[in-house]
Amino acid sequence: MLIRIIDKNRTTELEAPSGATLLDVLRSQGHTVPAPCGGKGTCGKCLVEIDTIGPVLACQTRLDDALLARLGGDGSDITVRLPDERDAMILVDGILPHQKINPLVCRARVQVEPPALHDPRADDRRFEDASGYAVPFHLLPDLPAVLEKEGGGVTFVGRNDTRSVIRFEPAYTSDASTGKSMLPCVAIDIGTTTLAAFLVDLETGSRLASSAMINPQVSYGGDVISRIAAASENPATRDALRSSILKAITRLLVQLVNQVNGSGDEDGDVAIGDIVHITLAGNTTMMHLLTGLPAANIARSPFNPVTTRGRTITGAQLGLEDLPDTLCTLLPSVASYVGADITAGIVALGLEQPGHESTLLIDIGTNGEIALRTGDRLTACATAAGPAFEGANISCGMSGIAGAIDHVWMNGDDLCYSVITAKSAPVSRCGTAASNGDKPCGLCGSGLIDAVAVMLETGVIDETGLIGADPDALSEPMRARLTQVNGQPAFILATAEESQPGSRVHLTQKDIREVQNAKAAIAAGIALLLEREGLKPGTIGTVYLAGGFGQYLNVRSARLIGLLPAGITGSVVSAGNTSAMGALRVLLDAAAIETCQQTADRIVYRELSADPLFSDLFIEALMFEEP
Ligand code: FES
Repeated sequence: MLIRIIDKNRTTELEAPSGATLLDVLRSQGHTVPAPCGGKGTCGKCLVEIDTIGPVLACQTRLDDALLARLGGDGSDITVRLPDERDAMILVDGILPHQKINPLVCRARVQVEPPALHDPRADDRRFEDASGYAVPFHLLPDLPAVLEKEGGGVTFVGRNDTRSVIRFEPAYTSDASTGKSMLPCVAIDIGTTTLAAFLVDLETGSRLASSAMINPQVSYGGDVISRIAAASENPATRDALRSSILKAITRLLVQLVNQVNGSGDEDGDVAIGDIVHITLAGNTTMMHLLTGLPAANIARSPFNPVTTRGRTITGAQLGLEDLPDTLCTLLPSVASYVGADITAGIVALGLEQPGHESTLLIDIGTNGEIALRTGDRLTACATAAGPAFEGANISCGMSGIAGAIDHVWMNGDDLCYSVITAKSAPVSRCGTAASNGDKPCGLCGSGLIDAVAVMLETGVIDETGLIGADPDALSEPMRARLTQVNGQPAFILATAEESQPGSRVHLTQKDIREVQNAKAAIAAGIALLLEREGLKPGTIGTVYLAGGFGQYLNVRSARLIGLLPAGITGSVVSAGNTSAMGALRVLLDAAAIETCQQTADRIVYRELSADPLFSDLFIEALMFEEP
């Protein structure tokens, strides 16, 4: 059957196989449709619009006779409209105190002695004697022509650790001073939800461009478990997941070089093929899906990954067709649920070095990953926080994109909120009219935590999390926000009139329970690490919060709802995208590759499901404390 897909201003048509779901067809065409529940039909986030039918869940819509019957008319073709992709607020930058420049790759120009009757050395030997770099077997056929072209003058890119040539650069040998003198390299964070990258000129160490995008694998599930399930279903889906991330990386690289070329840099046009070194950090599942490794055992006890070891391979080995000889360094993971992103974060912040004060690094996503440095010891754990803070299982939850309520606070006896806009800084709304584009349609993680903190502080929920336990104790405007949704208590944050058409932003009793589970999981993980290291919460000097969530989170609200255990009084620092910063540190300083491996090897990983103390701490942390 013919299907017409309208995505922004682009229309594509294809003959779709009968019986496939709409979600399958859209994914196969490279469209990114959020599917946090992995197509189970439970999250309601994969809405698309079919002409004459209206909004449908893409994962629950089969291209079959029943659909054609619903279409009426001659029923021969289907027009599907994808919702506008909203600009995500993706955090690319972060803290990186150490920026030593000692890259893995270099570009050099040497003058090689010409062959002579009295000098029996072969071409590769004469090159190696002049440069100190060996020529690998696959480049030997090029060598005679390279040596002849410039009378023995050769520009090459070399790998410093193995002292071997990566590529000759004959196109630049005519005048290296006016040709492309840049040595473009890229650091990439592969997040479960987003990808972020920097392009760096390793000749100077300057960052020239940054770029980010939604991880297209969100069409296969919002969390790592649904992705693993999808990849384990059949090899074709595993290949599709791998191919989607490789294509996304290539798109990121194109965006980066376009930025550099558009910036008027006198070094001229950089092509993605010029990129010599890429460093990549992500959680263990993302690293497996990127490299095409079977990830099924990560999801089942005893949670065993295929590998956690870091390694440097070529673009061809990774599957980057346009960069076959580019070096790609995969950072090491620690265990199935403490990945290379955490190793990278630790190394970016310098926490691998012994410190006087105890320090926590917390990365809150669908899993909360927590690392603790005390003295010269490093321990880490991962706790299944669930996707509540990413908005996936919250009735009006959404990512931190335009239309999301990102902060909530009290003003007098009623609440106010701010909304992320596509154009500028978030707009605040305190009972005043807002233009349509500034109206909310949901709330993101930081807004959720603020909202629950406000509800707790004002008595809308009690310590057990019950909504409306004592309505008489509430101010009139707050009491007016109490309602019911499908027979359960709920609280309205933005009325239908204040919100975008078809939306009303509220929190239900079930949403509050999801938040309680998520915050208890994080708080119990922190408490367990401290307990096992014999530390009191008050001894923590600094808490680094990683990722976008940590950046926009209101620390007071986080403390109020117990996401950060009450006894932790040390400073809380938003560390930004620590995974990207770690990848960047490795890119700038080759010695950090070994530092990462040594760090990953010495982190003591605590498997929470194997520690009986965790469930006690979790149950303790489920309740809210009286504000
Ligand atoms: Fe379709 Fe969740 S409802 S992916």
